[in-house]
Amino acid sequence: MFNPALVNRFRQLETPFYYYDLELLKATLKACADASFRHHFLVHYAMKANFNPRVLDTIQSFGFGADCVSGNEVLAAISHGFKKEKVVFAGVGKSDKEINLALDQDIFCFNAESVQELDVIDQLASAKNKTANIAIRINPNVDAHTHHFITTGLEENKFGINTWELPAVAEKLRQCQNLNFLGIHFHVGSQINDLSVFQNLCLKVNEMQAWFQGQGFEVKVLNVGGGLGIDYFLPDKNSIVDFESYFQVFKDFLQINPNQEVHFELGRALVAQCASLISKVLYVKNGLKKNFLILDAGMTELIRPMLYQAYHQIENLSKSGSQEVRESESLGDGKVESQAPSTINHKPSTHYDVVGPICESTDCFRTDVELPESQRGDLIAIRSAGAYGEVMASGYNLRDRVQAVYSEE
Ligand code: LLP
Repeated sequence: MFNPALVNRFRQLETPFYYYDLELLKATLKACADASFRHHFLVHYAMKANFNPRVLDTIQSFGFGADCVSGNEVLAAISHGFKKEKVVFAGVGKSDKEINLALDQDIFCFNAESVQELDVIDQLASAKNKTANIAIRINPNVDAHTHHFITTGLEENKFGINTWELPAVAEKLRQCQNLNFLGIHFHVGSQINDLSVFQNLCLKVNEMQAWFQGQGFEVKVLNVGGGLGIDYFLPDKNSIVDFESYFQVFKDFLQINPNQEVHFELGRALVAQCASLISKVLYVKNGLKKNFLILDAGMTELIRPMLYQAYHQIENLSKSGSQEVRESESLGDGKVESQAPSTINHKPSTHYDVVGPICESTDCFRTDVELPESQRGDLIAIRSAGAYGEVMASGYNLRDRVQAVYSEE
């Protein structure tokens, strides 16, 4: 990803910044578009993963819809050219202001997450003399086998409507004059590399659509959410997700009736690999038991390692040929082994705890990282940071807002 000319360019810039490889983003979007169009599947980009303006413009240009979780995301999607009739609005806690805004924008569909929310949308739509399209987000109680902080489809999670509440939902849908039932929606979690999770989800979706049909409802839309994972261990080898295999699972296991639309809400799989957080070594601290590389980026720029114990590959760009690689390859089925990586380089290497400058002990990207001997001023890349990176940056410690730099400049 980083040739010498690019590293030279980085040297002229103030760090830290997110570097976006827009060519890789486009290649990823094309792979996803090709694989989904083949089955007539419709993909909404989950904007929460990254709403950087250049990223949004690029994704929109491929014709994807937008999956939004706030009123501001709805407005941003539309102002970046996403078609209103391709905007869906999810979230367990939509405020009245946000619902009104989405009604005014005539978006495609609300993914409703509680019986009470149905009442509120109905009342607000009635006041505007409008009808709101509704998909019912069902909590399918399917285990995503991912980190518990990013699991959403279990009964213990706050998301969606549990199956025992569905009779009340059906009753409410019959009563509410200003709601138009479109279909059912699911999302079981994020960073899912085991495709059998999606297979299990399909079986649940089939069961649920049969239930609604049995109640006399026409189910026009099956929205199966997002969650497809990426390879954080081998970002160069597996820079683009195997979208073909992913969509094939739904083709094989979902019962799709004629004229029914199948919708997806992918975030991470579209944007994660296209960005790296580029930072500089401020200080090298050698302790008795540990050596620290203190970077000018920290949890204020990328919080995933601190919040979810997430693994990101770390490279010293100032030492050529010093790329971290995993000793074992990714498994063929998309699962990755959690074995520690080693470093291929011809220079002496050292183990470092790679940390940020923030006044919190948890401000550590990774411990015991094998890197070539590093020094003040070296450029460090933290890879696969395009999803839930820049958008989760904060102003804690009154830090400067992290900048973005693009390949096309
Ligand atoms: N649809 C719904 C309803 C969601 O809640 C999410 C993500 C998505 C789609 C997109 O999921 P994706 O395809 O990106 O996995 N900040 C965490 C991830 C939180 C995911 C929240 N919901 C992280 O950095 O891992």
